Amino acid sequence: MQDLKNYIDENKDRFIEELFELIRIPSVSSKESHKEDMYKAAEWIKTKLIKEGVDHAEVMETQGHPVVYGEKILNPALPTVLVYGHYDVQPAEPFDLWKSPPFEPEVRDGKIYARGANDDKGQMFMHFKAFEYLLKTNQLPCNVKFMIEGEEEIGSPSLGKFCEDNKEMLKADVILVSDTSMLGPKTPSITTGLRGLAYMEVEVTGPSHDLHSGLYGGAVANPLNVLCQMIASLQDENGRITIPGFYDDVEELSKEEREEMARAPFDMEEFKKHISINDVRGEKGYSTPERTGIRPSLDVNGIWGGYTEKGAKTILPSKAHAKISMRLVPHQESGKIEQLFIKHFEAIAPKSVKVKAEFLHGGEGYVSPTNTVAYQAASKAYETTYGIKPIPVRSGGSIPIISLFEKVLGTKSILMGFGLDSDAIHSPNENYALEQFYKGIETIPHFYKNFVEMSK
Ligand code: BES
Ligand code: MN
Ligand code: MN
Repeated sequence: MQDLKNYIDENKDRFIEELFELIRIPSVSSKESHKEDMYKAAEWIKTKLIKEGVDHAEVMETQGHPVVYGEKILNPALPTVLVYGHYDVQPAEPFDLWKSPPFEPEVRDGKIYARGANDDKGQMFMHFKAFEYLLKTNQLPCNVKFMIEGEEEIGSPSLGKFCEDNKEMLKADVILVSDTSMLGPKTPSITTGLRGLAYMEVEVTGPSHDLHSGLYGGAVANPLNVLCQMIASLQDENGRITIPGFYDDVEELSKEEREEMARAPFDMEEFKKHISINDVRGEKGYSTPERTGIRPSLDVNGIWGGYTEKGAKTILPSKAHAKISMRLVPHQESGKIEQLFIKHFEAIAPKSVKVKAEFLHGGEGYVSPTNTVAYQAASKAYETTYGIKPIPVRSGGSIPIISLFEKVLGTKSILMGFGLDSDAIHSPNENYALEQFYKGIETIPHFYKNFVEMSK
């Protein structure tokens, strides 16, 4: 692939212009008001795939936002790679914290700034350009299928059924995904683990209506006070989650496995500086990378109730709410954790309030072995473009559909992410370094080549 670097170099500005067209469509999956944009983005992707040279592509309906499917079948006897990505993005709020508007992409200091610049429009689009190169230069070594969904950021609620209904169409030897990060621009890594998720919303109800806090304060349970106490009790002084049975299925790693993990570089000072904190905090007995990589966690994502406008209002609110998520590790089942959470939350509620806990969404974690052809092919691909062997790393993030792919389709995934931890995904000023984008396009064709050769 002598010409690969040249090809990228000659076309690099066009690649960015094309990606910007997609980024300009505000495909926020969680908002009803963006329903039309979901179709616009899906149609854009379909049109692009056809232009790139797939045999056929279509926008397929699901119970929710559509999936774009496309394929290039050279010869059924050859291996097939299924590329998965998502065209939906997280909401861009708070808008006023963006230096440039989230859906008006801009390059500053060698980085693309926009919602979706990395997650996952930028990363997904690297696969389109790698495919374009392979096809145009007659070097595509296998069959390729594309499945780009529009509901990843809301937990892929329709994709399980979509896979069940289209098993034959989605048949592949491996699923190739760029929706994770790597350790650093000079330190390639392959994500070998993802956490699962159980996302709950809780409601605590006290009196039937807001009360005068002078006439009732001190004599009636305040749902906000109670909720805060309940939440605080969900973790003990060692940072362990107190829900009975919560750790039952958590796999304890061996000393050797933990030592192996500890070899991945981690700069604590850099970590703290980047997010402006003075100290870290987490489960006792585990390092920071372990706390996100191999241990579960519990976080309040939002809490509300009572009076939050300007000025003071003296009330004792009737209701309090919170959104609480638990990141899970492989073998912990989100359905079981949901039940344990609800049971415990009801058990610790004082008689003076009523509580409700509801499961919003969730999914299972994933561990990918390193002794597979796909891992070796990916490893060699990074080695070719970066000059060093990538490090296997367990990420704290979740892509729930990855474990479902294995369950429903029987196909394993390889997570070749090119994001950086500094990309601010889901945050204001999300960005993606041009260098990462181009390196990704350069690395992917090597994966295809290696995968086909090593599969023989
Ligand atoms: N691409 C991310 C997940 C990710 C990012 C994994 C970086 C590893 C490294 C994905 O789009 C995401 O945000 N997932 C959600 C899942 C949820 C909405 C069900 C997450 O992790 O919060
Ligand atoms: Mn993503
Ligand atoms: Mn995301």
